[in-house]
Parts: sequence; C-alpha cells; structure tokens
Amino acid sequence: MQWGDEGKGKVIDLLSSQAEYIVRSQGGNNAGHTIMVGTEEYRFHLIPSGILYPHVRCYITGGTAIDPEVLLKEIRGLEERGIELKGRLFISPYAHLIFSYHRSLDKLYEAQKGEHAIGTTGRGIGPCYADRVSRIGVRMGEFVRPDIFKKRLKQVVAQKNQELTSIFHEPTLDFEEIFAANEKYAKLLAPYVYDVENFLAGALKKDSKMLFEGAHGTFLDVTFGTYPYVTSSSTIAAGICNGAGVGPSQITRTLGVIKAYTTRVGNGPLPTAINAEDEKLFLDHTAAREIGTTTGRKRRIGWFDGPLGRFAARLNGANDLAVTKLDVLDHLPSIKVCKGYMLDGEMLEIPPSIMEDFQRVQPVYEVLDGWQTSTREATSIEQLPKNARKYLNYLESLCEVPIGIISLGPEREKTLILKDFFTN
Ligand code: GDP
Ligand code: IMO
Ligand code: MG
Repeated sequence: MQWGDEGKGKVIDLLSSQAEYIVRSQGGNNAGHTIMVGTEEYRFHLIPSGILYPHVRCYITGGTAIDPEVLLKEIRGLEERGIELKGRLFISPYAHLIFSYHRSLDKLYEAQKGEHAIGTTGRGIGPCYADRVSRIGVRMGEFVRPDIFKKRLKQVVAQKNQELTSIFHEPTLDFEEIFAANEKYAKLLAPYVYDVENFLAGALKKDSKMLFEGAHGTFLDVTFGTYPYVTSSSTIAAGICNGAGVGPSQITRTLGVIKAYTTRVGNGPLPTAINAEDEKLFLDHTAAREIGTTTGRKRRIGWFDGPLGRFAARLNGANDLAVTKLDVLDHLPSIKVCKGYMLDGEMLEIPPSIMEDFQRVQPVYEVLDGWQTSTREATSIEQLPKNARKYLNYLESLCEVPIGIISLGPEREKTLILKDFFTN
C-alpha cells in the first residue's frame, strides 16, 4: 500500500500455512522479501514467499519479468537449504525474460537521466517491460525452445546493438555469447515451465485456496504511482488479475499490507520524510530492518502518510489492512501522522496526480502520544497498550478500511491475526 517493503513477504508466508497455491504475478527480482522462521532468515526475489510450507505449490505467472540467472540462483539457494522445488514451483510460458542487455540498458538510461534518475534497482526491469510493450521481448515458452529462442534473440540483439553503439557508444553485444549462456539456463529452467494460467483456472473452479502475492508497492505502480518515480509493472491489486490471467470475479478478498510508518528506496517524493533530529529519535536502522533486501540501500523514512493510505485503499479495493512494524514505534514519546496535505492554500485528502504538485505538498500532522512499552509480546489486541490501539484506530479511520492483521516483529509468531481470511 506504500512504496514497497511493507512486510508483504512476512504476511504471505504467514497466510500460506492456510493456502494451497501461492501466485506471484508481476514484477521481477527488483522485489526483495525477507522472512524470518525462528532464527533462520530467507530472502525471496521471484519465488513466491509461501514456498517454505511443504504443502503449498507456487506459481510464477505471465505478468512477471524473469532473470534466468537470478532465478536459478534463488532456486539453488533454497535447495541447498533443503527446500524441494521440483513439482512445487511452476513458471508460465508467457513470462518475459531479462537478459544482460536489459541490465546494461537500465544503468545506461539511469546515467542518461542524470539528476532525474529514478534510482532503479538496476535489475533490468524497465528495459524488459519496455521490450514487452515494443513487442521485441522473449518469453519463457520461447526461451526453452532453442530453435525459436535463437531466432528471436538474433533479431533483438541486432536491434539492441544499433541502440548501444549509436546512442551510447558502447561495444556491440556478442550474440553467440549471450545465446550460449542462456541456452544453459533454459535447459535448467525447462522442467519448471508449465501451463500455469490454465491450471490456476481449473483450481479456482474447484474453490481452491489461492493466495496472490503482490510485489513492490501501490505508489510504484506504473499508472497510479508517483510517476515517473515508479517501477514498470502494475503493482495494484488489479495488476494481479492482469499478470496472472485471472478474472476479477475470482478474487474474494484483498488485503492491503501497510507499514505503521512510511519508507521509500530510490528517488521521488516522500512528503512525510522525517528530519534529521527526529530520525535520531525515531529508530536505529538495524533494529527496524530498513536496509533494502535487494540492493542493500538504506531506506528513507517518513511518518505514516494518511492521504497515501487512503488512496492506496481505494486503488486496491482493500477489504482489510495488515499493519506491519508497529513495534518499531514502541519507544517513541510521540508519533506524527499525516492527515492531509496543504497545497496552494488548499487541504488535500489524497495525493495530487502531478509529480510537480506532489513535490510541493506540505503534510499536516496530528501528533499522537506514544506508548513507550514493548508490543512484541502481545498475543491479543487487548494486550496492546491503550495508545497503540488509539494509533491503530487512527490509521484505520484515515484509510477507511478495518485492520485484519497487526505485525509486531519480523518473526511469524509476532503477529495478531484478527480474522479468518480464507472463509467468505
Ligand atoms: P516486503 O518487500 O514488503 O516483503 O518487505 P521486506 O522484506 O523487503 O522488508 C520488511 C523488513 O521488515 C524485513 O526485514 C522483515 O523481516 C521486517 N519485518 C516485517 N514485519 C515486521 C514487523 O512487524 N516488525 C519488525 N520489526 N520487522 C518486520
Ligand atoms: P518489494 O516487493 C522497494 C523501486 C526502486 C526504484 C523504483 C524503480 O521488496 O517491496 P525498478 O528497478 O523497479 O525499475 O526501480 O522502484 N522498487 C522498490 N522499492 N521495494 C520494492 O519491492 C521495489 N521494487 C522496485 O527502488 O525507486
Ligand atoms: Mg522488499
């Protein structure tokens, strides 16, 4: 519901215990989800965050962008830790491939933008999706068919070489080298390629318990995010339907994962950014786990942003909120919450659509009393300090959506689940 890293991975992992199928439907390895199981830490980029439960099957659908080298590394890493993936991980033939030239172009476009750079993860996501739209992408189904892949790649490499040499004055790509490396990856990935979308349609007909995992964040959405400081996929709930080939009628419930404050990695506005003095008070970055899972960048931190939360709830049609990281606020004497923005003398309840206006908004804050007690041991909402409950109620009223989950630490057991999400 914000700019990513809300703790979606933790929530998906937790709910996966009750689901049969977990589906990742957009984005690529620009995502990074950290999951704690006891003292064991797992990091996921493309593989759905439910894979740790042996009973679930995981699906990567057509809307995703897959870097084969990275996916194979992720698969190997999990297998080395004893997690079996064969027969449990399935990849759609419609998913697009990320190649080394996408990663190079990602960096070149960023350098070309200079002070207007997006601050991408450098994983080739934008260039891969651009190729999809330009109809020069390579899809997984083609990738695992060497004859077809060779033809497609030859055409694209010729086109990329023109761009690389004439615009960026870079050396040309060696087609044979790219093909040889990727042919090897394709052989290793071929056993995972499966008719995912048709399988999921069949499973939905049987009323299976299916959990669709969103990646990134609402305001990184390519249409409704803080454009141009966004990623290149549709990150809102509807993007899941699009990327998984599932009709909206099939989705019974939408859970919006939202952090009890705000963070952002990469460039672009963060209206509620805390000042240096508050930052000292606010948190130490290590305990709050606000170092990026994918790039290791320090996340920028801001107070909870009500207008963003409200707009995100609307864009996603969220039925419930999962509020994460409440425990990070435990020691604060007082906590600011943005209830609206002032722009040119007018109070706004939702963010403006134009970036130039968004960059000028002045947050209007409500200051709430902190609770200055640890919430980490609470096992019911009644055990939370009164001021923590007041804080949560305030977030609910700003977002106009009830809270269904409260997360009080990175571990599975530090969670209050207030509802059953798998019954209608
Ligand atoms: P995601 O991308 O939305 O899955 O989030 P990330 O995993 O990138 O970032 C969230 C970070 O916060 C991870 O290091 C999690 O282990 C951690 N985390 C998740 N929930 C909580 C919580 O309730 N409290 C605290 N302190 N950490 C949490
Ligand atoms: P999860 O799923 C945080 C941000 C990048 C950059 C912008 C564009 O872990 O929440 P890209 O490489 O996608 O072209 O970069 O989007 N970004 C994320 N920030 N969490 C993520 O994923 C992100 N995925 C992309 O930092 O600002
Ligand atoms: Mg993350």
